[in-house]
Amino acid sequence: MKWELKMVDYKIADESLAEKGREALYIAEIKMPVTAKVIRERFSKEKPLKGIKVAGCLHITKETGNLVRTLKAGGAEVYLCGSNPLSTQDDVAAALIEEQINVFAWHGNTTEEFYWCIRQCLKAKPNILIDDGADMIVTAHKEFPELIESGTIIGCQEETTTGVKRFRAMEKKGVLKVPLFPVNDARCKNQFDNELGTGQGVIAAIYGMHILFAGKTVVIAGYGHCSSGMALRARGLGAHVIVTEVDPIKALQAKFAGYEVMPILKALSRADILLTATGCKHVIPPNPEIFETFKDGVILGNLGHFDIEIPTKELYSYAKEVRTIRKDVEELTFPSGKKVYLLAQGRLANLVLSEGHPSEVMDMSFALQSLVSEYMVKNREKLKPGIIEIPKEIDDRVGLLKLESMGVEIDHLTEEQYNYIHGYEEGT
Ligand code: NAI
Repeated sequence: MKWELKMVDYKIADESLAEKGREALYIAEIKMPVTAKVIRERFSKEKPLKGIKVAGCLHITKETGNLVRTLKAGGAEVYLCGSNPLSTQDDVAAALIEEQINVFAWHGNTTEEFYWCIRQCLKAKPNILIDDGADMIVTAHKEFPELIESGTIIGCQEETTTGVKRFRAMEKKGVLKVPLFPVNDARCKNQFDNELGTGQGVIAAIYGMHILFAGKTVVIAGYGHCSSGMALRARGLGAHVIVTEVDPIKALQAKFAGYEVMPILKALSRADILLTATGCKHVIPPNPEIFETFKDGVILGNLGHFDIEIPTKELYSYAKEVRTIRKDVEELTFPSGKKVYLLAQGRLANLVLSEGHPSEVMDMSFALQSLVSEYMVKNREKLKPGIIEIPKEIDDRVGLLKLESMGVEIDHLTEEQYNYIHGYEEGT
């Protein structure tokens, strides 16, 4: 074993956790038939990523572990760092270095260490970057421009809504210098991973405080892909759900789905549990007077990408006492004596308190990442800097493979039907 470990470069929390990590990887593998079986088997034979270095800045979970094993089976040399200081599962990281994946990540790293890990991956001169939140690709632009100018980086992928928004803003400003595939925007990604995965994230909120949703008022900020899934599941658990929104159409959808809709300032005093997933900043205004309108004992959880939806920093500085009452749950006591319970320091509660999305949904997101990596290598000469939408054939292929893995058959258009829906001549 030791001689093998020397072939990988890594910094992780504890190598002795590898056995537990192997168990976790297996649990995910058997629930990821598309990524960890169909694509992996083909990649093992065809080696479409031979000679390619892939760097991933991703939540290091058992599902991500299976993505990188598939990329490696395809011939890639893989470097991995975490995309959130609190989401790395140290046992998975330990198991991956045994599989010759270069991992730089540990749970609870500081901001400085977080960027050190990103730099270690970029120092390996990767050809493909797979990001979750944009931090690695933005760092490549700022600190490793030679990787872009020399054409070493042939293309990049972004996994989450917040990251895609950052890249669209970069493109608009003319500063995005790499071909960027917004995997988040593929149908096989956001309609399943975001809605079902984050939707089920309310379970992580229960896990944090072990409370009953039934009979509670749950305020959900946002009614997008993630948050609409969360609202549905909170209601399914018996909660009364209030939705807050800034988009009139989304607000209407929430209203017609039967939720109460109102501005956040009106909703706050009614919340027993408040959950955010908007990708926005300061969804709760960072103001002590507003904090004092909370119900005593309210639970605050964020499932959006960054820890600024709930004004975490301002809450900590307003609290006269902060006490960890169980792992990743803090009790903040305000000067008035009121107590609030903050999950996961305001970071992605589903990933920090639980294990992130179920493997079944990540199977689709990571099948997309695998096939888009292959596509980038095959089409490397044609790729130009800027956002490149995920080819529909790849999205459809992942959907069909997933259906096939579940034994579900569907209809296919006849030529007559195809011509009809793509034509204009036939009418009344
Ligand atoms: P989305 O764009 O589909 O939905 C966001 C919604 O929030 C929109 O309807 C928008 O109008 C609304 N919104 C924006 N600002 C608001 C405000 N101040 N108050 C109330 N509503 C507001 O985005 P999606 O895909 O649902 O992603 C949301 C966040 O969750 C992003 O940060 C994304 O990166 C993250 N995410 C987290 C995951 C997890 O595992 N926890 C998984 C996938 C995405």
